[in-house]
Amino acid sequence: MLHPVVLSGGSGTRLWPMSRQDRPKQFLALVGDRSLYQETVLRAVGLPGMQAPITVCSEAHRFTVGEQLQAIGVASGGIVLEPVARNTAPAIALAALHAQARDPDAVLLVMPADHLIEDEAAFREAVLKAVELAGDDWLVAFGINPDYAETGYGYIRRGEALGSAGFRIERFVEKPDLETAERYLADGGYSWNSGMFLFRASRYLEELGAHAPEIVEAAGQAYAASGADLDFIRVDGEAFAASPSDSIDYAVMEKTDRAAVVPVSCGWSDIGSWSSLWSVAERDEAGNKTEGDVIAIDTQGSLIRAAERRLVATVGVEDLVIIDTADATLVARKDRVQEVKAVVDRLKAEG
Ligand code: GDD
Ligand code: MG
Repeated sequence: MLHPVVLSGGSGTRLWPMSRQDRPKQFLALVGDRSLYQETVLRAVGLPGMQAPITVCSEAHRFTVGEQLQAIGVASGGIVLEPVARNTAPAIALAALHAQARDPDAVLLVMPADHLIEDEAAFREAVLKAVELAGDDWLVAFGINPDYAETGYGYIRRGEALGSAGFRIERFVEKPDLETAERYLADGGYSWNSGMFLFRASRYLEELGAHAPEIVEAAGQAYAASGADLDFIRVDGEAFAASPSDSIDYAVMEKTDRAAVVPVSCGWSDIGSWSSLWSVAERDEAGNKTEGDVIAIDTQGSLIRAAERRLVATVGVEDLVIIDTADATLVARKDRVQEVKAVVDRLKAEG
């Protein structure tokens, strides 16, 4: 059976000041009325044959997750709580163990909680193809056609065709440098890794065991000693903390020879920064996206969000991001929003 796994452990620092430690971006309604997490869950459970979603998140966010599931009326397939963050490879291992405990033949659809997909029908078709490949024991990544040399993504080189469902992955390169990314873009034979995967839980654990045995060991011990309380699965803190911290991309996808890719064109975007939010938003004729009480005069290409009950006015500016909240205001050039993380680092350093 097919089990969605929603990875919800990120901290979303580049979306400060909306995204905060106690309520990171995936739990905010940044696009529309529902949070990115809720959108992800609904997208998954809308697919044919899906079981209840398994969420993997930080212990600190357990009530937020519980409330957000309840608000959309989706029954939980378990909320696995990480006592410490150890990146995606161990997080997915916990989900795989949890799914397997109830369904030995579980197939997982792994989805980060902070992605948008515009064309759900196209995505559904891709999932069906991936299910076919996972049945033949492939670890499937969903590939996106790249449109610029992004260095924050993984790149997948397509190899031989596997029937009409997808391709064997000839090479998987996580986050190449700019020169390499430009070469891959020009080559035409590469897809971006979307960060969404589909595979048999058992196959994932086997591959992880072959390439990162300490992670399987630690996750296995942590899950074996776990206790359930309501929908929450509390794994053993000490055992889990012993796991190396690594992503599925580095720990498994770069190394395994059982990797396949299903290219999909589904209006995918990763809401990683304010500029990505601006680029997916519906903008006015001047290219602005405004929210709340905003007066924008002779202003172009900007994202402006006003806090409740406060007016934000701009005159003669362009390509800015202005995010006003109750206790903090961000003003940044739109092409430098990746550096917003530095503000959060400074705040942390100052305690
Ligand atoms: N539960 C849990 N625990 N979730 C986590 C953890 C963790 O320790 N670490 C990260 N996540 C979640 C994040 O919230 C996010 O939704 C997802 O896993 C991916 O993590 P990111 O930190 O956002 O990864 P990335 O953006 O650097 O790179 C990944 O995504 C790209 C596409 O957006 C890679 O898979 C790249 O190859 C890919 O191109
Ligand atoms: Mg990301």
